Amino acid sequence: MSMKAIAAVDKNWGIGNKGDLLFHIPDDMKFFRETTRGAAVIMGRRTLESFPGQKPLPGRLNIVLTRDPAFAPEGVVVARGPDEAEKAALDSGRPVFVIGGGEIYALMLDRCDECLITKVDAEAEADAYFPDLDKTPGWHMAEEGAELEREGLKFRFTTYRKR
Ligand SMILES: NC(=O)c1ccc[n+]([C@@H]2O[C@H](COP(=O)([O-])OP(=O)(O)OC[C@H]3O[C@@H](n4cnc5c(N)ncnc54)[C@H](OP(=O)(O)O)[C@@H]3O)[C@@H](O)[C@H]2O)c1
Repeated sequence: MSMKAIAAVDKNWGIGNKGDLLFHIPDDMKFFRETTRGAAVIMGRRTLESFPGQKPLPGRLNIVLTRDPAFAPEGVVVARGPDEAEKAALDSGRPVFVIGGGEIYALMLDRCDECLITKVDAEAEADAYFPDLDKTPGWHMAEEGAELEREGLKFRFTTYRKR
């Protein structure tokens, strides 16, 4: 079984700033919801806390990485390291998606064989990043969707795979 990462990035592979997303593109949110529906999703503690009400995503198995031994919110599986997160995800028998944020993408990238990257044709102030797959040996863009536009923002859905 394989793991995939899913993220929306700006031109500099920025993904977030001050605990929030850089963009809120409804088509991309819909793509994320539909792609990860029913899946196991692996995230960092800070990404969980960025969700509305700091609540896990409904309809998915939420696996949250933290080093805090006291962290035990309702409705999530807590993992203390990447091996534990991967095991909980794969044992579920569900498709597995790494959903962020920056620390967790970097931590889990080597365990993924595909990355679904929404590339937004804009530059935003960011403090969290996805690893630049155009510069990461072993990765290449395998699929590139047509350019789409929503509320003045241009973006496209792409798929990166391991060579
Ligand atoms: N554009 C996108 O697609 C996208 C997707 C998701 C998130 N984001 C954005 O990304 C930002 C958050 O990213 P981030 O890098 O700040 O945080 P993050 O990756 O969501 O979470 C970091 C936390 O994960 C835990 N962690 C990290 N390494 C670990 C390890 N080896 N073992 C156990 N736990 C570990 C730690 O939790 P403790 O501190 O509790 O120990 C750490 O503070 C936000 O702005 C969010 O909006 C963007």
